[in-house]
Amino acid sequence: FAGGKRLRPILAIATTESLGRDIKDVMPVACCLEFIHTYSLIHDDLPAMDNDDLRRGKPTNHKVFGDAMAILTGDALLTIAFEIITKDRQYIKKIGADTLLTVIYEISKAAGYDGMIAGQVVDLENEGKEIDSFTLDFMHKHKTGALITAAIRTGAIISKASKKDLEILTEYGQKIGILYQIVDDILDITGDSKSLGKPVGSDLKNKKSTYPSYYGLDKAKTLAENQAYEAIKTIEDYSGDKTFFVEFVKFILNRHY
Ligand code: IPE
Ligand code: IPE
Ligand code: MG
Ligand code: MG
Ligand code: MG
Repeated sequence: FAGGKRLRPILAIATTESLGRDIKDVMPVACCLEFIHTYSLIHDDLPAMDNDDLRRGKPTNHKVFGDAMAILTGDALLTIAFEIITKDRQYIKKIGADTLLTVIYEISKAAGYDGMIAGQVVDLENEGKEIDSFTLDFMHKHKTGALITAAIRTGAIISKASKKDLEILTEYGQKIGILYQIVDDILDITGDSKSLGKPVGSDLKNKKSTYPSYYGLDKAKTLAENQAYEAIKTIEDYSGDKTFFVEFVKFILNRHY
């Protein structure tokens, strides 16, 4: 009931659909991904992190319930994410315990210390500092790219994608993951808070290292376009239905919410 665009579940579901598999099979995984993403936003908004007051058009969790409850809500969402994919014996049997364990490994790795958390650490550690382009890319690849890539990969793993398709989808996921955060950084400057549902100017307030702060706004936009082009090129050799993946790139490049 928390709102949001639900992009990570959409990616998992669309990947499953593109490979001709029943989308019911990926639903618990899709929910798992969204729970983890939502927890990451609740914690990201806390005073100790980005200190933001608005999320998905509403006051942030800690603004309403206090910091302690917001921390615990995040903890609970992260835990329930794994509860919901493992609680139904019928489902485990249908997907296969081995496949489900692979999915759990993928998601825990993507969300964890050398995935999303690594990106968040680098993000916070570099507030007010000058960073190099390698560190900037590392940050985006991890804090945003890891979970986005995991959403696509887990959809593919559930659907028994071929090794080649999994490789293509992984590369595509990494490219749109970085693209997603570049556009997010741009929108933090050029967007409007009403349609984004979150504050603009948050990055400036926190002296964040972002694509626009490093490259300037115009160059950041050009780099986003290049990244979008690369992502579309990557998906060309995919054996499944490519339509969604091409449209999705255009959606993120042109999004304003
Ligand atoms: C916001 O993610 C955080 C980033 C990774 C940039 P979304 O833009 O997917 O947020 P919701 O889920 O739609 O609110
Ligand atoms: C968030 O990056 C990445 C997460 C893993 C939550 P941001 O801090 O730029 O996300 P917003 O702008 O607050 O949504
Ligand atoms: Mg942040
Ligand atoms: Mg933030
Ligand atoms: Mg942002």
